[in-house]
This record gives sequence, C-alpha cells and structure tokens, in this order.
Amino acid sequence: MSEVVHLHRDGVSVVVELSDPVPRLLHWGEELDDGDAAALPATADGGVLNSSIDQPRRFTVWPTEAEGWAGVPAHEGHAGGVATTPRPHGAGVWVADSGHAVTLNLRDAVSDLHIVLTYRLEVGGILAVTPTLRRTAAGLYDLASVQALLPVPSRATELLDFTGKWCRERAPQRRPLGFGSYVRDSRRGRPGHDSPYLMTLGTPGFGFRSGEVWAVHVAWSGNQRYLAERLPEGAGGHGAVLGGGELLRAGEIRLDADDAYTGPTTYFGYSAEGLDGLADRFHRMIRSRPVHPRKPRPLLVNTWEAVYYHHDLQRLSRLAETAAAIGVEQLVLDDGWFSGRRDDTAGLGDWTVDEAIWPDGLAPLIDTVHGLGMRFGLWVEPEMVNTDSDLARQHPDWILAPSAGLGPAARHQYVLDLSNEQAWQHVFKRIDRLVTQYGLDFLKWDHNRDLLEAVSRGPDRRDRPGPHAQTTALYRLLDALRERHPDLEIESCAAGGARVDLGILARTDRVWASDCNDPIERQHIQRWTAQLLPPELIGAHVGGPTSHTTGRTTARSFQLATALFAHAGIEADLTTATEAELEQLTAWARMYRELRPLLHAGRVVRADLDDEHSLLHGVVSPDGAEAIFAWVQLATTPSTSSGRVLVPGLDEGRDYLVRVRSDAGLPSMRQITPAPWLDAALGEGLRVPGRVLTRVGLPMPTLDPGHALLLHLTDPAA
Ligand code: GLA
Repeated sequence: MSEVVHLHRDGVSVVVELSDPVPRLLHWGEELDDGDAAALPATADGGVLNSSIDQPRRFTVWPTEAEGWAGVPAHEGHAGGVATTPRPHGAGVWVADSGHAVTLNLRDAVSDLHIVLTYRLEVGGILAVTPTLRRTAAGLYDLASVQALLPVPSRATELLDFTGKWCRERAPQRRPLGFGSYVRDSRRGRPGHDSPYLMTLGTPGFGFRSGEVWAVHVAWSGNQRYLAERLPEGAGGHGAVLGGGELLRAGEIRLDADDAYTGPTTYFGYSAEGLDGLADRFHRMIRSRPVHPRKPRPLLVNTWEAVYYHHDLQRLSRLAETAAAIGVEQLVLDDGWFSGRRDDTAGLGDWTVDEAIWPDGLAPLIDTVHGLGMRFGLWVEPEMVNTDSDLARQHPDWILAPSAGLGPAARHQYVLDLSNEQAWQHVFKRIDRLVTQYGLDFLKWDHNRDLLEAVSRGPDRRDRPGPHAQTTALYRLLDALRERHPDLEIESCAAGGARVDLGILARTDRVWASDCNDPIERQHIQRWTAQLLPPELIGAHVGGPTSHTTGRTTARSFQLATALFAHAGIEADLTTATEAELEQLTAWARMYRELRPLLHAGRVVRADLDDEHSLLHGVVSPDGAEAIFAWVQLATTPSTSSGRVLVPGLDEGRDYLVRVRSDAGLPSMRQITPAPWLDAALGEGLRVPGRVLTRVGLPMPTLDPGHALLLHLTDPAA
C-alpha cells in the first residue's frame, strides 16, 4: 500500500500520496480522518482510455509532460535551447510543523534542478505552497515559468475572478469554466487595478452562504499569473486545475550552478460554506500572522482630497485641531510636501521637505499633531521619479528603462531601478532619515504607474528584464525600514488599490482599497476586497458630500456607514464643516471606536439576495454574541419591498436585541410609516431569536437609493 501524508487543520484536509516517480495530491477539500486519507489511493486511478497514454492518467504535485500531462506544466525552461522536457523524480519528503507542513524534494536530471516544494496548511485551513528550484549543474538554465498547480474536483465548474480600473477595483466577473486554459497575466509590475486577486472555482451557483469553492491567491507584488485549466481528460482523477505564480519575462531568471529561484507563496483556500466561508478562512489565516497589526486601527484624517497640493501650515494645523476634536487619532500628510512638488509633474525622487512651503520643516505641524494626541503619517512614493527632479537630473541612469530611451511617462513619472544598489541605498537613506528625524508613525507608500519596458540598463545596451529584481528590492527596502523602525506602520497604495496582495501585506499594515470615496462604488470595492482581506486591513475614507472621482453627491450618513466597515478615515476639509456636520462626525467617530473590536476581529458575512441593488452585510463577533449589519440600497428596484431577508452568520441558539444605530444619522426611507419592529428597534430594541433572524429573516425597510441602515445586535444574556 502506498504511503500518504495527511495534512489537516481547521476543517480542511490535503492528502498527498508519496507515489513514484512524483508524489500526487489525492484530496484538497473537506477534512477527513487518517483512515479516510489512507483509503484514498485505492480509488485514485481511473482506467486506461482510448486514444490516450497507455496508463491511467495522473496529476502530480509537479505536473509535466513526463507523466502525460498536456496542460500548463509546473515549470518550463531550457539550457541554451536544450533540456526542455523535465522529468522530475521524488527525492525525499519530510513532514514538519506538527504535521501541518510537508516538504517534497524532487530532482530533475534533464534540466539539472533540485526542486523543493513546500505545502503548509495554515490556520484556517489555507494551504500555502512555495516552490524553490536550484540548479545542480554548471551552465545557464533559463527558467521560463513556474506555477503552483492544484487539482480541483469535476463538480467545480463555475469561475469567479476580478478585474477593475482606477476607482473601481475588484469588480467580480463570473463565467462557466469551459474547456481550455483561462489565464490571467499581469505584466504591469504590480497586481494592477484589474488584478484577478482571488481566482475561485465552485460548484454551480455558489454564493456567499452556500456552495463548495476552491480559490487561489498569488502573494506577489510584481508580474503574476493566475490560471484555471480544464482539459477533456481532466487532471488525474480530478476535473480541473487551479494555480498561479510569478510571470517571468523571457531570460529574466537564468540559473547557474547553485543558483536558486524561489517563487512567491501561492495560497489555496477551500470552503464548503460558500464565499463567506472562504473569506473567513483567509481572514483567520491573515489574522494569525505575527506581523498582523495588533493595536486598534486609529481613525485617521488624510489631507489629499482636503487640500491636495495646497499645503499651508495654518490651514493644516486647523485641520488637525478640528480632526482631534472629532476624535480622529492620526493625521496623514499626503502628496505635496517635498521639493518642487506643486502638482504631479515634478519632485518625485527628491524626498526632502520643500522649504518654500515648509520654511521650518514639518516639525511645527507634527508638533501640533502630536500635541493633540494624534499620530502623524506621511505620503511617499519611493519607487518613482519625475524627470523634473534633482534625482533624475543627477542620476538619469537610475531610471528603470531601456538604453534606447524612455518610453511614455505615466502621470509624468518613471520608475527608479531599485535593483541598482546605489539607487536603493539613496532611497533607503532618504526615507530612513525622514522617519527618524520626524519620528513618523506611518507612511502611505504609493506606486502610481505600471512598469513598462522595465529593464535594468547594462553595459553595451545589454538591458536585462527588471520586474522580478524590482519586486525583491522593494521587499528588501520595506523589510529594512521596518527592521530599523519596528513601530512604523505602512499603507500600501498604488493609485488606489493596484497593489493589494499578501506579498506586500507581509510588510505593510493596510491597503488603500481605492481612490474612490463614493460610497456607492465603495460598497462594491470593499465587499470584494474583503473576500481576501479582513476589514482592519482595508482603508476606507469619508470624502466630501460630492465625490471627487465620480461627481456624485451622496448622503453623509451613507458615507459614514460605508467607511465604518473597514479601517476608517476622513478625507475632507474639516475646516469648512458646519457645527452640525462636526457633531455628526464626532458621533460616528465614537461609534467607530466602540465597534472596532467587533469590526476588526469578527467574521464578515454577506447575504445572498437576488436583487443586485440591495445588500445586507455585517460582521459577527467570533462568539456570536454581537453583530453589526448594514442594510444598503444602491439603486431603486422594481419590487416595492424586500420581504423577509435572512440575516446571515448569527448564532441560532441565542436571542438578539436588535437596535438601529442612528449615531451617524438615519437613512432616508421611502415609506409612510415604518414597520412596527423597526419602531421598536429605533427605540429600546426588539428581542428576536437568532433562529428567526437566520432562518426566517427580517422584513427590511424600503430605503431611498444611496442609503444604509445600521443594525446592532447584542445578546441580552451575554
Ligand atoms: C495617488 C493615491 C492618492 C493620493 C495621490 C497623491 O493617486 O492613490 O490617494 O495619495 O496619489 O498624489
């Protein structure tokens, strides 16, 4: 009988058979016991099919043509035009981490590679897969591609992934999984506004609360590939394949003797409880990381949409004072503070304070902010350079661009080649000095353009592909800064949410989900960003009454209800706010501080509704004793009332006291009189059994479009 390795954790099992010549994955899904796992090999093989290879088809942990696999292989490459058909063989296995991890060693004598593949089952049952390939012979081997590939059962026939643009990140797209390869490449040197983000396969009709789903996320901030592939012959005994890895440029990774390439960790999640179950598993895994922020997420004010480039000490000091009076805990000075930066055409690269605007440096503002008891943060974009900057004038060769000349600028800017040690040191020293000199608590780290023609210039115009080296140099930079400044927090921003991945989040503390503060758009963006990330890592701000990026005017109460479900902030000129507006913001800030232990540690839940313009989403505490929900109307609908809407994720064994939270204002409702239950919930509260809420539901009020009702549920017995 063949040996199996059974990793299982938090309801998920991964079973690997140590078969020859290469181990194969027999099961990734629902948790099994060891007896079940040991029984799998007996039923793993199919028959020998007509017009096929003369042995049962297999799909191993490192699929190649050598096993008869005709889909995308685990790796491809060549040694000067030869050694193109790898033939890996198992070369030892060890199980570690109390049975949660297995390392599989493979040797490939054709391409002279030692392949080490680690499967680690993390908290929440998320499988982390990391490949390393080391060259074992002299002479260059050009690695063309490496991807982690896992098979999924044939019942997973529907595909969900994401696309998007500036100000509309993580827009979902769904389709049936047909035969063939569905490949999503990012060649932008970052995941992009259109990042696939979390490619998910599921059983037909899977929703937030139901269906089996299998998903992949590539924890990498550079070029990347996601794929789902379904061949007519399946994948061994499975139906299709899900995978991902770094997208390598031709000639980018050339391995000589003893050189190694480690691919990004690729995370694979499974849930039998729909997209909410999947999100919950990722959130648990992410929250268990040692680097996960532990301190309460401070309510912040960001100066971008408040003042843009018009920096003025008096005005910003007043903004700080007003913010502090509201209950804001951190001020972030956005773009516009450094030399020559009057607009977006100049200054990037010159990370010194502009004395014309800040004659006494930033200290007077920072002292005011600290004096008010707030933390202080600063915007930087260290990987970028404007040609109109001292840096570009002094070191034009530091720009990541072909010897043949610069291509098109984007937002008037180019990328600095961080794989150039001098450039790296320059940036490191400048940012390090700023953090030290000003005792910065926070950096908003921006990255406003794609990497195009990203080559490092070599002698004799021998330009080499740069995205991989750029990404690892960025990681080194962030790691070095964090090591020097352990209390420094960093936000990953890339023209909004174009760099949201678990690679950057291993060294940053939140993402700026989008430059769009319009709550209608934000409801979508945050809903889907939360498919991977827990709310405390997602930055969400309240802007002005009229959105600067859509031109739409929305109710302040709706803006506040939307930003509440994330790491909240304000991005508006508070110095012009009326007393009534400030009171409303103060009440909301108090509510945010009261509810953030729940919002930032609970389970995200979303109802499945057939009307796409109505949303019910919430966060339920881990013990089920408390929850906060938003009933949201994005647009009008043909039906006059919602009927009873099932309230998801509650503990059916408890009673709940249901109360409307009106701290930040009430939504506008399109009805003559409210339902009696709502009247009660607007007052002392209404006691409702959890089973009634989850199994029968609440008839929700008819809201005007662009409004949200907040419901706070507590267990009166707790
Ligand atoms: C990018 C960011 C914005 C803001 C500006 C400043 O667009 O996404 O939030 O910081 O840069 O130039």
